[in-house]
Amino acid sequence: MASERNTNFIKIDGVSHTFQTATGNLPVLDDLSLSVPKNGFTAIVGPSGCGKSTVTRLIAGLLRPNIGGVWLKGEPVNSPRDIVGMAFQNPVLLEWRSILKNVMLPLEIVPNSLSSVAREQRALDLLKLVGLSGFEDKKPSELSGGMRQRASLCRALVHKPEILILDEPFGALDAFTREDLWQTMHQLREKEPFTGVLITHDLREAIFLADEVVVLSGRPATTQFKQEMMERGPRSIDQLYTPRAMETLNILREQIKIARQNEGTVS
Ligand SMILES: Nc1ncnc2c1ncn2[C@@H]1O[C@H](COP(=O)(O)OP(=O)(O)OP(=O)(O)O)[C@@H](O)[C@H]1O
Ligand SMILES: [Mg+2]
Repeated sequence: MASERNTNFIKIDGVSHTFQTATGNLPVLDDLSLSVPKNGFTAIVGPSGCGKSTVTRLIAGLLRPNIGGVWLKGEPVNSPRDIVGMAFQNPVLLEWRSILKNVMLPLEIVPNSLSSVAREQRALDLLKLVGLSGFEDKKPSELSGGMRQRASLCRALVHKPEILILDEPFGALDAFTREDLWQTMHQLREKEPFTGVLITHDLREAIFLADEVVVLSGRPATTQFKQEMMERGPRSIDQLYTPRAMETLNILREQIKIARQNEGTVS
């Protein structure tokens, strides 16, 4: 039973979901199933608007599917759970709070037994790990976009969630800052393992960070293709330029092309 829980730490089973909109029903997910093992890291890619963010909302318990179910650690998800941390493309940091106080915010909301000194230390440790020591007292607007995203990752992880959901967290950053943050992600995972789901449009990012890449079909999305990565854990950017990585990139690119061609063929 424990091993079933670990293999399917995150389990999405036969999920179909339709939004009711002013212009009619919009089927978004169609019999979608996927699972992520404990401490695994899955990247989800797919055409724009196919339903990726909807999948993250289902895992986070912010939305319940019309059909099928979502389980975390073997328990059905019916509402938001504090074992889940989230980070998005635009880090929504509160301008009236310092970076340190922004990072500490979840510790004020999620029940925990940490003293105020321990809470501050936890936030300071994370900020140090992502290279933001010395910026604790700055306001969000005093930081660059990459620094704000680092702070946002710290905030998502400060309460030690077992699951981290990332919805295009690096999408708005320049290529070099993005690669730096990829390395930071590996460091964070190595220090404190968590089970991750990454939504991205960047196939290189998916290959670099994930253990497995799942390609969703065009809307209504279902699992079209899965590709296990050869590497696990930290890797060097150079590995993205090996023939094997190039081959994987081409396979995934081809799958995205298929997903986009098939878009809208099911209604
Ligand atoms: N609450 C909602 N009510 C109605 N329609 C919605 C709602 N949320 C999302 N949609 C629609 O569902 C579809 C899928 O949205 P979703 O945000 O999941 O796509 P996505 O794959 O994350 O897109 P992108 O790659 O552009 O971020 C879109 O057509 C969107 O307009
Ligand atoms: Mg989205």
